[in-house]
Amino acid sequence: MSKTPVRVAVTGAAGQIGYALLFRIASGEMLGKDQPVILQLLEIPDEKAQNALKGVIMELEDCAFPLLAGVEAHSDPLQAFKDTDYALLVGARPRGPGMERADLLAANAQIFTAQGKALNAVASRNVKVLVVGNPANTNAYIAMKSAPDLPAKNFTAMLRLDHNRAASQLAAKTGTAVGDIKKLTVWGNHSPTMYADYRFATTNGKSIKDLVNDQVWNADTFLPTVGKRGAAIIAARGLSSAASAANAAIDHMRDWALGSNGEWVTMGVPSNGEYGIPAGVVFGFPVTTAGGEYKIVEGLEIDAFSQERINITLAELQGEQDGVKHLL
Ligand code: NAD
Ligand code: LMR
Repeated sequence: MSKTPVRVAVTGAAGQIGYALLFRIASGEMLGKDQPVILQLLEIPDEKAQNALKGVIMELEDCAFPLLAGVEAHSDPLQAFKDTDYALLVGARPRGPGMERADLLAANAQIFTAQGKALNAVASRNVKVLVVGNPANTNAYIAMKSAPDLPAKNFTAMLRLDHNRAASQLAAKTGTAVGDIKKLTVWGNHSPTMYADYRFATTNGKSIKDLVNDQVWNADTFLPTVGKRGAAIIAARGLSSAASAANAAIDHMRDWALGSNGEWVTMGVPSNGEYGIPAGVVFGFPVTTAGGEYKIVEGLEIDAFSQERINITLAELQGEQDGVKHLL
């Protein structure tokens, strides 16, 4: 017997990540090849964006995906999030000419306050929320704070792209397959301050730290390469990462919904005080997932170098949160 369709809301659906994401959700790559989905797509009311969204929907229809049980176009979050089981918040205000970081935070605070309130009002009480739009951790924090009737743990931010980037760099460095890399994590903010940590990681069961055995490479090559990868892609493409970002969003949601089979993955999730990160800060942590829930991996040793890196990314996040406090 076929499963009941689940509702998946995607914001910024006519943008470049949306274009790389929707077809994969509709083909079952995110929630399973036996799970029908109804896509509830949100774009700004602007005529150009709504027209572009219509075009994307025509293409979704033309794929004739057997799992696509419905597609809706919306310009109001209260309609787009109605009864939604999953919400991928991709749309955000990009930094414009002359815009300071504080202006960017304020513009996004408005969007994510409204969307958090709408989720609070109309989404499924079990909705799983992934924030992709930047600044992702702080936008997730804002949405979470704006949705007091939903469990805070249901609001997450995307650090999976950073995790995947780190895995790929480590596979190249060790000459092993990326799929063999386990127990990697990225702590903190989705920004150049993130701390990609391979101290516990293995490839084919061997310690990557031992294989690499080069702290200078870690500090001077690996961390800056992973941390600045987004900027490197913008410099090369003239546009920010889209296919890899969509792929990471699929990985994040798939693992959350269907389980990580005991493997560590990185998710930006609200802290409960783990590793001294103040409660409520949406921070990249190593997690395992099972039964639709994630669990932060606890008890890892944090050495002096790692603590210093964690403190830097935490301070940046707390600065961002302070910058939006008056807007919440
Ligand atoms: P894009 O500009 O191509 O598309 C964004 C879309 O969002 C646009 O169509 C826009 O009309 C829409 N939008 C803006 N405000 C909206 C709102 N309030 N409601 C609904 N839709 C809205 O951008 P993109 O390349 O798809 O990137 C989207 C976001 O993802 C950006 O903020 C980008 O910085 C971020 N990003 C995050 C990561 C990550 O790892 N967390 C990686 C890559 C990109
Ligand atoms: C990325 O990591 O690729 C993006 O967050 C970069 C950006 O600023 O959009």
